[in-house]
Amino acid sequence: MMFLSSWSVVLALGTLVSALPKRECAHTVKESVRPPRGWSKVQPAPADHVIELRIGLPQPNFATLEKHLYEVSDPFHERYGAHLSKEEVDALVAPHSESVELVTEWLTSHGLSEGSMSRSPAQDWVTVKVPVSLAEKMLDTEYHVWSHEASNASLVRTTSYSLPDYLHEHIDLIQPTTLFSTWRGMKSTIHSSKAVQPGTTNNAPPIKVPTASGGEVDASCNTTITVSCLKQLYNAVDFTPSGKDGNQIAVTGYLEQFASIADLKLFYEDQVPAAVGTSFKVTSVNGGQNNQTESEAGDEANLDTQFAFGITFPTPATFFTTGGSPPFIPDIGTPTDTNEPYLQWLEFILAQNDPPQTISTSYGDDEQTVPVNYATRVCNLFAQLGARGVSLTFSSGDGGVGDGDPDPATQECFTNDGRNATRFIAGFPASCPFVTAVGGTTFVPEVAIFFSGGGFSNVFPRPSYQEKAVTDFLDKLAPGTYAGLFNPYVQAFPDVSAQSNDFRIFLEGEPVLIGGTSASSPTFAGFVSLLNDARLSKGLPPLGFLNPLIYAIGAEEPSAFNDITVGNNPGCGTPGFNSSEGWDAVTGFGTPNFGKLKEIVTSGKTLGRRHS
Ligand SMILES: *[C@@H]1O[C@H](CO)[C@@H](O)[C@H](O)[C@H]1NC(C)=O
Ligand SMILES: *[C@@H]1O[C@H](CO)[C@@H](O)[C@H](O)[C@H]1NC(C)=O
Ligand SMILES: *[C@@H]1O[C@H](CO)[C@@H](O)[C@H](O)[C@H]1NC(C)=O
Ligand SMILES: *[C@@H]1O[C@H](CO)[C@@H](O)[C@H](O)[C@H]1NC(C)=O
Ligand SMILES: *[C@@H]1O[C@H](CO)[C@@H](O)[C@H](O)[C@H]1NC(C)=O
Repeated sequence: MMFLSSWSVVLALGTLVSALPKRECAHTVKESVRPPRGWSKVQPAPADHVIELRIGLPQPNFATLEKHLYEVSDPFHERYGAHLSKEEVDALVAPHSESVELVTEWLTSHGLSEGSMSRSPAQDWVTVKVPVSLAEKMLDTEYHVWSHEASNASLVRTTSYSLPDYLHEHIDLIQPTTLFSTWRGMKSTIHSSKAVQPGTTNNAPPIKVPTASGGEVDASCNTTITVSCLKQLYNAVDFTPSGKDGNQIAVTGYLEQFASIADLKLFYEDQVPAAVGTSFKVTSVNGGQNNQTESEAGDEANLDTQFAFGITFPTPATFFTTGGSPPFIPDIGTPTDTNEPYLQWLEFILAQNDPPQTISTSYGDDEQTVPVNYATRVCNLFAQLGARGVSLTFSSGDGGVGDGDPDPATQECFTNDGRNATRFIAGFPASCPFVTAVGGTTFVPEVAIFFSGGGFSNVFPRPSYQEKAVTDFLDKLAPGTYAGLFNPYVQAFPDVSAQSNDFRIFLEGEPVLIGGTSASSPTFAGFVSLLNDARLSKGLPPLGFLNPLIYAIGAEEPSAFNDITVGNNPGCGTPGFNSSEGWDAVTGFGTPNFGKLKEIVTSGKTLGRRHS
C-alpha cells in the first residue's frame, strides 16, 4: 500500500541526539478527563510499549473551510455543488508555519529525527511512534493499562497530560492519551440474528403504501426486508444506475471484521440475481482484516456490504477494512496499541484524490466517552470530506435516548462528570453536524423502531440549517419535558431514517435476519448513491454534504421524505421522544422517497434559487 508506507515510520531508539537546546519551560496541563464508567486502572504501562502519538496542530483557517462547505452544500446558493479539490481543502486546514516549526523543534529536542515524523498532506497532523517512557517524559504524565469490564477491552491511556506552556497554542490535541473508546457496531444486540426459512412465499395481498413504487409493497416486507422491499418502499423500482458515470459507493468496517465474498454471492442469488458474479473492492487500512475464511466473516460487515451494494448494483463498490481494535493485551507482546479507528481511516481517505462519493459507517461511540477536543477535530475532518463532495452517513445508535446498554444494572445513563447524574446519552459521530445521522424504522406501513438513536448532543452547537426544524419540534413538547436530561440548544439528531429491522442477509452460508441502525445507514447511503448516479449521469456534481439539502427540502410540502409519525425511542428509564409530524428526534425527517428526491436533485430548478 503506497499510502501506508508513506505514513509508516521507523524510529531509531538509539542515542538521543539533541540538535536544539531544550527550551526551559514549565509544563501545564493540556487536557484532563475522568475515565468513563466501567474502565479501571490495571497497572503502569510497560515502559517499552510503543504508542503512535498523533499530534493535531491548530487549523487557523477552519472557519473559512466551514464557510466554503456551507456554500457548496446549500441548495439555494449559487456555488451549490462547486466542491473543493483536495489541494484547496489541504490549504485551508494547514497550520501556521510557526506551529509546525515549534512542534518539530520540540520533537527534535526529545531525540526524534525528522525522518521519524510522518505528516499529513496539509501538515496539520504529525505522527511519531514512541515508547511509553518517552511519551511520559514529553507529556509529563504516566500511562497505565486500563481495562473495560463489559467489553473486556484493554487500553494504554492516561487521564491527564501536559505540554510546555509555549506549545499550548500550537497543539490542539495529542492522542492516544485521554480517549477511552468503546467503538462498536450499531448492529442492535437486542435484535441480532435469528435463522429464517429461505424463499419466503406469501400469498397475502400487497400492502397499500401511497408513496411506494406503484403504490404498494409486497406483504412479506412486513416481516422480512430484502433489497426489493426497500426499492418498492422507497420508490426506486424503475431506476437502474449506470455504473459507468464515475459514481462509487463505499462502506467502512472496523474491529477486525471483513465482508465475505462467498456470502455476498449467496445474497445476490437470493435477492439481486443480475449482480451474481460481481463483487466489491477491498481496501485495507492499517492492516485491516480480509480473511475470506467463511466462518470468520463479520455479521456487521456482511449486512453493510450486502445491502449498500445490493441496492446500488452495478455501481462500483469498496469495502474499507480498518485495523486496530481491542482487545489490546500488553502482556503477550502486542507491539502497538492502535485503537484509534477514526483518525486512521480519515487520514487514509483524505489522502485519496477521488474518494467514493457516498460512504456509510455503522459504528460509533457514546459521545461522552470521546474527549471534546478530539470529537471536534474528528468532526472537522468529516467536514473536509463534505467540502470535497463526499456524503457521509452514520447509524444514529441503537439505544433510543440512552446508551442501549443491554445490562439493566448499568442502564441509568450516568453523566461522566463525577456527579453520576442521569442524562440522555448521545452517540458520536451521529452528533457531529457534518455527517448525516440515520435513525431506524420498522414494518410496512413504517413506524419508528424503539431503539432508534436520537436526541441532543452535549458537545456540538446547533448548526443554522436545523434551527427551524428542531425549534418546531421542541415547541411541540410540553413545557419542562425531560428538563435537565438534555440540552435543547445544541445539535439534534438523527437527520433522517430508514428501515432497520429483520434484514435478510447471508452469514456463513446461511440466511439470517438482522437489525439495528447498522442496517439503516447503508440503506440510506444506497439511495443517496442512486441520487448521485442520476446527477453524475446528467453531468451534475455529486450531492456532497447532505444536511443543508435535507433540511431545506424536508420542510417543503409535499415532502420528498416519508414522514414517520408513530413510535418513540425509550431509554434512561424514560419513554424517550415521540415521532411526530415534520422533523423529530426519533426518525428525523423520515425515510427517503427516491422518486421525488431524484426529481428535485436532477431538475436544476429547485436547486439554485432560494424559496421565499
Ligand atoms: C477477557 O480477556 C481475557 C484475556 O485477556 C480472556 O482470558 C477472557 O476469557 C476474556 N473474557 C471474556 C468474557 O471475553
Ligand atoms: C405489519 O406488522 C405489524 C406488526 O406485526 C402490524 O401491526 C401491521 O398491522 C402489519 N401491517 C400490515 C399491513 O399487515
Ligand atoms: C484465516 O484465519 C484463520 C485463523 O484465524 C486461519 O486458520 C486461516 O488460515 C486464515 N485464512 C486466510 C485465508 O488467511
Ligand atoms: C459515581 O459512581 C461511581 C461508580 O459506581 C462511584 O465510584 C462514585 O463514588 C459515584 N460518585 C458519586 C458522586 O456518587
Ligand atoms: C408522547 O406522546 C404521548 C401520547 O400522546 C404523551 O403522553 C407524551 O407526553 C409524549 N412524550 C413526549 C416526550 O412528548
